Amino acid sequence: PAAVIVAIDGPSGTGKSSTSKAVAAQLGLSYLDTGAQYRAITWWMVNNGIDLSDASAIAAVAGKADIVSGTDPSGPTITVDGTDVAGPIRTTEVTSQVSAVSAVPEVRARITELQRSIAASAEKGIVVEGRDIGTTVLPDADLKIFLTASPEARAARRSGELKGSDVKATQEALVARDKADSSRKTSPLAKAGDAVEVDTTDLTLQQVIECVVTLVEEKR
Ligand code: C5P
Repeated sequence: PAAVIVAIDGPSGTGKSSTSKAVAAQLGLSYLDTGAQYRAITWWMVNNGIDLSDASAIAAVAGKADIVSGTDPSGPTITVDGTDVAGPIRTTEVTSQVSAVSAVPEVRARITELQRSIAASAEKGIVVEGRDIGTTVLPDADLKIFLTASPEARAARRSGELKGSDVKATQEALVARDKADSSRKTSPLAKAGDAVEVDTTDLTLQQVIECVVTLVEEKR
């Protein structure tokens, strides 16, 4: 079959990463975590002492970090200037600042270009997860999914992933990040008009995976 391009968008804690990886693995497709790329550029900025309250300072260095994503769904990788940053990009320090960096148009232009070139070179097709994949990055994707879940369910899932974190604080941080991501001017978090919305609140991960696999198979 021809290369199939699947866009999976939605707010944090809806199961985007787990679903996207499993669907890609099951169907033999590549996988791209675009949130990891925004986290990686944020990590570089923090590491280089860039003032993240200054959008023009961020814009001025938007092209400096060399970000490379490995797209095997069974072991996706991310490096910045050759350094493995898979761990450091998940710290609270990066998570709490990534929305400020990802709102800067020069950053988005740069990362979007990278995403399009990765998708174009995926010979068997790719599952790309993020916030603006269906609306902006890959508007011609064969299938667009928009995952949602209640804030309570999302916070509970995130707290489960981050050992020792408290659910209330996690929920507040999640809601704040989604608000920033949804209200920015340049390609905000949004459901594409032609996306299929899947509310995962009362579904198991396995059910969500099966639902998306079925939708992809219908497109092939
Ligand atoms: O998916 P994840 O939570 O790792 O994404 C981290 C952040 O990266 C988001 O909160 C958002 O600010 C940014 N992001 C984005 N566009 C994407 C993917 C992520 O702006 N396509």
